[in-house]
Order: sequence, then structure tokens, then C-alpha cells
Amino acid sequence: MDLSAVSKDIERVIVSEEDLQKRIKELAAQVDKDYAGKDLLLLGVLKGAVMAVADLSRALQRHVEMDWMAVSSYGSGTKSSGVVRILKDLDRDITGRNVLIIEDIVDTGLTLSWLKANLESRGAANVEILTILRKPEAAKVEVNVKYIGFDIPSDFVIGYGLDFDEKYRNLPFIGVLAKHMYS
Ligand code: IMP
Ligand code: MG
Repeated sequence: MDLSAVSKDIERVIVSEEDLQKRIKELAAQVDKDYAGKDLLLLGVLKGAVMAVADLSRALQRHVEMDWMAVSSYGSGTKSSGVVRILKDLDRDITGRNVLIIEDIVDTGLTLSWLKANLESRGAANVEILTILRKPEAAKVEVNVKYIGFDIPSDFVIGYGLDFDEKYRNLPFIGVLAKHMYS
């Protein structure tokens, strides 16, 4: 879906489709280098990371396996609480695997810090994180994120997997949702 289809809902585009795709290729080249000679399991966090996994995996010049988890943070409204519930678990055992978690966004960091610890406790050899976006000002816990697409301000953003009320995930760019859409 193009900007023209949703221009009234969007305050501004903060990452264009072109910049996103360019950055994904750079991240993929880095991942290729860092995991050379090692096995690699891409673990996409549903649903936000679907676009990132699709694009990143196709930019990698190596074999990868893919698996998916869906998690939900308990908490009031849109605020993440850090108490995480698994809605869909991994299909396969990850003992001894090199796991790269792929996320759409690190906001408070609570979800990812829980997820990383959870995967490490299952005996993964190595767990790293790749996120398309990070909101440094919103961080509540320190999470070691190895690969970051873009640091952005703490505005509510949509597109490229990120939703508002389950919509806008299929935008190829990332935009700030217009205030009139939620206030
Ligand atoms: P946190 O890092 O535990 O606060 O939670 C991050 C999750 O909250 C992400 O995986 C998104 O699903 C959601 N989220 C955080 N910020 C945004 C945003 O700006 N737009 C859409 N979803 C967001
Ligand atoms: Mg998410």
C-alpha cells in the first residue's frame, strides 16, 4: 500500500522504503560476516517482524532456518508491562543453536529482555537481537541489541510490520501516526 492511500492518517514519513531496503542490505551483509561458518536460526517475533524477516532473509547470502514466536505483554492498554505470555512457541528445540531474534521495534525493551532470557534458559548457544527500529528515549531496561536499523524518537509509528489496531502493517515505509487517529 502506498503513502497516497493513507496520507491523511500519517503525520510524516520517518523512514522511506528506499532507506529501509538499503539499511536491511547493510545489516544482512553484517550478519553474513558475523555468522560465517556458523549455523543461524532467524527467530521472527510475530506479527511485527514478518516484513523484516522476509527482506533480511532474502538479502542474506547463506542458508538460514526460520522459526516464529508470538508473545503478548500483559499490561494496561498500549503500555508494555514486562510480563510476557507466549501465544505461539517455537516449533523446534534450540539447544546449541545460534539464534538471531528479529524484531520490528524496541520500545521499553521489556519484551525483548524477557524473550532473550527465556531463549538462553532453553540452552541456545547464542542469542542476539536485530531490530529495525529502536526508541532510545523509551528504554526502561538495558537490552543488548546487536543490530539496529534506525534510532527514532518516541512517537507512535506504523508501517513495515508495525500496526495501529492491526492496520498499516503492509506499508513499505515507516510513518508517524497522525494524532487525530488516536486522540
Ligand atoms: P516493548 O519494547 O516491550 O515496550 O514492546 C515493544 C512492542 O510494542 C513492539 O514489539 C511493538 O509490538 C509494540 N510497539 C512499541 N512501539 C510501537 C510503535 O510506535 N508502533 C507500533 N507498535 C509499537
Ligand atoms: Mg512486536
